[in-house]
Amino acid sequence: MRAVVIDHPGGPEVLTLREVPDLAPGPDEVLLATTAAGVNRADLMQRQGFYPAPPGAPPYPGLECAGTVMAVGSAVTTWQPGDRVCALLAGGGYAEQVAAPAGQLLPLPAGLGLLEAAALPEAACTVYSNIVMYAGLAPGETLLVHGGASGIGTMAIQLGHALGARVVCTAGTAEKLATCRELGADLAVNYRDEDFVSAALSFTGGHGADVILDIIGAAYLQRNVIALATGGRLVVIGLQGGGTGELDLAELLRKRATVHAATLRSRPPAEKAAIVSRVQAEVWPLVSSGQVRPVIETTLPLAEAAQAHRLMEASGHVGKILLSTGLPG
Ligand SMILES: NC(=O)c1ccc[n+]([C@@H]2O[C@H](COP(=O)([O-])OP(=O)(O)OC[C@H]3O[C@@H](n4cnc5c(N)ncnc54)[C@H](OP(=O)(O)O)[C@@H]3O)[C@@H](O)[C@H]2O)c1
Repeated sequence: MRAVVIDHPGGPEVLTLREVPDLAPGPDEVLLATTAAGVNRADLMQRQGFYPAPPGAPPYPGLECAGTVMAVGSAVTTWQPGDRVCALLAGGGYAEQVAAPAGQLLPLPAGLGLLEAAALPEAACTVYSNIVMYAGLAPGETLLVHGGASGIGTMAIQLGHALGARVVCTAGTAEKLATCRELGADLAVNYRDEDFVSAALSFTGGHGADVILDIIGAAYLQRNVIALATGGRLVVIGLQGGGTGELDLAELLRKRATVHAATLRSRPPAEKAAIVSRVQAEVWPLVSSGQVRPVIETTLPLAEAAQAHRLMEASGHVGKILLSTGLPG
């Protein structure tokens, strides 16, 4: 099979599509013929040498894919050859074959093809596990989503809206703000020329955000804590603005608020399987009914993985960038 290989850390040009050994499924794994893989910001960090694959994960980048089951491991009873699925991965999605733990596979939501489904697992599992399973977002609460036009943000806005929350988001251009509103954001703030703290406080009549899904980290930490409601939950899942910041514990204490930080990739397979199962039960019906849809900027051939990374680095995209192997979608 062919896979995108990173021989040494560097710019997008180090991504090379080449022949590598075929895979065989382990006892608890399913072997897929990949139709498409989602590109995630973590892949850029892995390419640069800052985010190595966890132990046991394939060396090729790619945290999600969709494809057709070719073979199943000896202990797998839940899937069979020919099933069309998408999968949450610890790595290895940028490849024509993927071996994934059986518990990390999802059936295609009704009405979706393989290409569209490849855009869902990482965003759906990350957003659902953080804003619902951890933060317990409830109907009527306010959710603040930073980077509303990102792959993660487009999912978070739609899911928050579908769950009955009021959604505030940030983004950096007028076009992105318009898309965020179309996706269900009640208020979209251009963080480049507006203060998201005053915007969120004024939108909520001084109450603040009950849940904040943050991808910026240190650069937003103090302002996020000020924007939190009493009893608020700040969930940090990205560190685009740095990883070391000052936390105002007095403000946190006064608000009885919490700060939580987590990454999905390093979670053990059993935890990922529990998240995948909740996503199938709670999010897939929303996708099938059209309340939550994959937002896809573009799909490029696997051979153009470098161009896909350049596009993501330029940050003009809205939603997901996909790579396709050329197999039917
Ligand atoms: N912890 C986890 O398990 C987990 C899982 C998946 C993703 N993530 C993280 O989630 C983030 C998004 O990932 P992705 O793959 O969806 O990436 P992406 O599509 O490339 O999105 C990155 C977004 O960040 C926005 N942004 C940059 N600076 C900003 C600022 N100061 N304020 C608000 N938004 C800003 C960009 O919007 P503008 O161009 O408009 O600035 C862009 O839309 C990344 O940080 C990633 O590492 C974490």
